[in-house]
Amino acid sequence: MTPSSPSFMDITFHVQTFGCQMNKHDSERVVGMLESLGAIDVPTIEEADIVVFMTCCVREAADIRLIGQVQTMKNIPLRKSSPLKKRLIAVGGCIGQRDGDQLFQQLPHLDVVFGTNNLASLPSLLAEVLESGGHRAETLEDSKVFPTELPTTREHAWAAWLPITIGCNNFCTYCIVPYVRGREKSRPLEDVVSEAERYVAAGVKEITLLGQNVNSYGRDLYGKPRFADILDAIDRTGVERLRFATSHPKDLTDEVIGKFATLRSLMPALHLPAQSGSNRILSDMHRSYTVEHYRGLIEKLRDACPGIALSTDIIVGFPGETEEDFEATYKLIDEVGYHQVFTFIYSKREGTPAAKMIDNTPREVIQKRFDRLVDVVQARAFEANQSDLGATVPVLVEGVSKRDTSLISGKSPKNQTVHAPLPDGACIEELAGSIVRVRIEEAKTWYLRGTVI
Ligand code: SAH
Ligand code: SF4
Ligand code: F3S
Repeated sequence: MTPSSPSFMDITFHVQTFGCQMNKHDSERVVGMLESLGAIDVPTIEEADIVVFMTCCVREAADIRLIGQVQTMKNIPLRKSSPLKKRLIAVGGCIGQRDGDQLFQQLPHLDVVFGTNNLASLPSLLAEVLESGGHRAETLEDSKVFPTELPTTREHAWAAWLPITIGCNNFCTYCIVPYVRGREKSRPLEDVVSEAERYVAAGVKEITLLGQNVNSYGRDLYGKPRFADILDAIDRTGVERLRFATSHPKDLTDEVIGKFATLRSLMPALHLPAQSGSNRILSDMHRSYTVEHYRGLIEKLRDACPGIALSTDIIVGFPGETEEDFEATYKLIDEVGYHQVFTFIYSKREGTPAAKMIDNTPREVIQKRFDRLVDVVQARAFEANQSDLGATVPVLVEGVSKRDTSLISGKSPKNQTVHAPLPDGACIEELAGSIVRVRIEEAKTWYLRGTVI
């Protein structure tokens, strides 16, 4: 921080995050920045003098929820010992970027709005409101530099999100992300590697490389480093586990697929969003691949890494989706056998090309298709997990299970949630962040259960 940075000594704050990992990572930067200025991170809105919402607008439901949340803030009194006269409310993330100062009309008790490229300005915007009152908004279109210099407070000491690109150039016709995150910018390879080295030295076990489309990394950089180069370089840092998200099927190369066979740290799990199984819909979505190409990738991945856990995203009810189109999607899900499928009902986003397409499929029809899809997703996920019965898997312990605190909860290499009774005499604080071996005795749809050995 610069010498002129404001001080937030004794002021408490809480950051509430919606949306994707990009937002989660941005939230870590917001927390890091405010803490470096003396503010205290607290676990609830009630205790917080400053509340920051990191918002998502990828689907309509997220928008509606934010408005409701900010409105209910009016009824939550400020803590008695607060040094402030009133609570400050800030909205950042993708709704902040999209709506800018228009949000003040809808939510007059909001104090600060900041965009996805303006994280670094949040402290000064808050300080200005504290000093002179009123509202402040900053939503510059594009950042000149990759915002990597901000301090970060990570959610877990042993896991780190590491953004390698920001923004997106793909303009899938349904998607608002390119409009709220700007054009794709890659971070220099040396920066990515030195951040990874710092994490490893600090005891981080798992690094997840982030980007809307990590596979197009480097096209805008001098010398055009490739995504596979980053994977090699991060593996050499000695990190135990390496993951990445998200991969666009049109840009997933044979070179990257090959890394699943050769790189020690690269975990056997890949999220590869298909969106639809119909070539007509894929074309209307501007996805630039066919379902045949997509299936070819799956085959190559399974050749390179037998047993790899695959996950995907599917949109049901895209404008003009016919019964035949949906059947093609159903068939894809039924046949691939994913470990996890994130299913979404199409949500119209103003300003995107799909918002102008004829969209006359009745809501009930879409809901029926969605429900059918969820059934097959669950059946296949259950089957996929059965292959681990009897196996002993290394589990990175995250903490105790939310439902039953006598169980530890962690992640397998395939990214499955694994539960096991806390071993006698062990203490969860010491186990969290370490890798334990668990023999799998039960395989359910969304988790495995076993015994630590
Ligand atoms: N860049 C990533 C993730 C983008 S958003 C990717 O390309 O995969 C995450 C998911 O939200 C998308 O994969 C898509 O399935 C879904 N999504 C995006 N826009 C949507 C919309 N308008 N309606 C419904 N789902 C949408
Ligand atoms: Fe959206 Fe497509 Fe970019 Fe993903 S690749 S963020 S779905 S425009
Ligand atoms: Fe949502 Fe923005 Fe991520 S719209 S999905 S938080 S990039």
